[in-house]
Amino acid sequence: MALKDVQQEILRLKKENDICILAHCYQSPEILEVADYTGDSFGLAVEAAKVENKTVIMCGVRFMAETVKILSPEKTVILSNADAGCPMAEMMDKDVISEVKKQYPDYTVVAYVNTTSELKTVCDVCVTSSCALKICKKLYTDKILFIPDRNLGEWIAKQLPEKEFKLLSGGCPTHAKIGSEAVVAAKKKHPNALFLVHPECVAEVVELADYVGSTTGIMDFARKSEAKEFIIGTENSIVTHLQLECPDKRFYPLSKNLICSNMKATTLVDVLNCCKGTGGEIIELDEETRLGAKRCIDKMIELG
Ligand code: 13P
Ligand code: SF4
Repeated sequence: MALKDVQQEILRLKKENDICILAHCYQSPEILEVADYTGDSFGLAVEAAKVENKTVIMCGVRFMAETVKILSPEKTVILSNADAGCPMAEMMDKDVISEVKKQYPDYTVVAYVNTTSELKTVCDVCVTSSCALKICKKLYTDKILFIPDRNLGEWIAKQLPEKEFKLLSGGCPTHAKIGSEAVVAAKKKHPNALFLVHPECVAEVVELADYVGSTTGIMDFARKSEAKEFIIGTENSIVTHLQLECPDKRFYPLSKNLICSNMKATTLVDVLNCCKGTGGEIIELDEETRLGAKRCIDKMIELG
């Protein structure tokens, strides 16, 4: 079957079976083309609360599919590929954070949405990279325990010196492995390029950026910018999407290693199989966990 035929069949099945496809922008172009909505983690959460279809296929990673189920429990929610987890979300669990909270009883626990539903039940509010600063600023408290991404937490803390932050040592293994030497090399090779970076990168990389933001933030900046060349410091799928969208501009990956194997686990055939009801994983959450996690996600949507 040719790629176009698979896409046509997905579009037909979507209509026939009342399916909505949500796709994170780290997915491949052939998947984004058949999606009803594409965006960053925050955009996907907002969309998940609004979906009217009977079934939702989440092309992304597990915590994103769980967010859809948390917000739309009456829907059948399918994770496009059962092996697509987020290593950062698995780094800390409910028991560990419950113990840490005992050391910091007067701190508000701000959880990056890249966490398990179970862990969210012991947190106060969720954030994503696009709304973390806004939410941390708005919070009534000036003491924040930020989990699990140390890099994102450090970036936010620098911008809010009036607040006290406690950070733990978690993070994205894809973004965190890139050091400043990659930026120096890329800037030497492309001296006229602006450097756009995701805040999951280490501080020494983020400090060298012309723009810091979420995946859709980076894409919007590049689309609107007068500049013609950009070094992209996030998962390399964003380079591909921007190249396709803005053919008159040039986009360079910060590193050829900026690839998230979990985001890349989903194929177009996986999406087809989900539409047929023969693939992916149906997300189930017990009601207590769902309601405990929903508190943090509702607060994120309200404040963000
Ligand atoms: P955003 O979609 O919020 O930019 O986060 C990127 C990411 O790594 C998602 O797992
Ligand atoms: Fe998780 Fe990083 Fe992959 Fe995003 S890019 S899904 S944070 S491992």
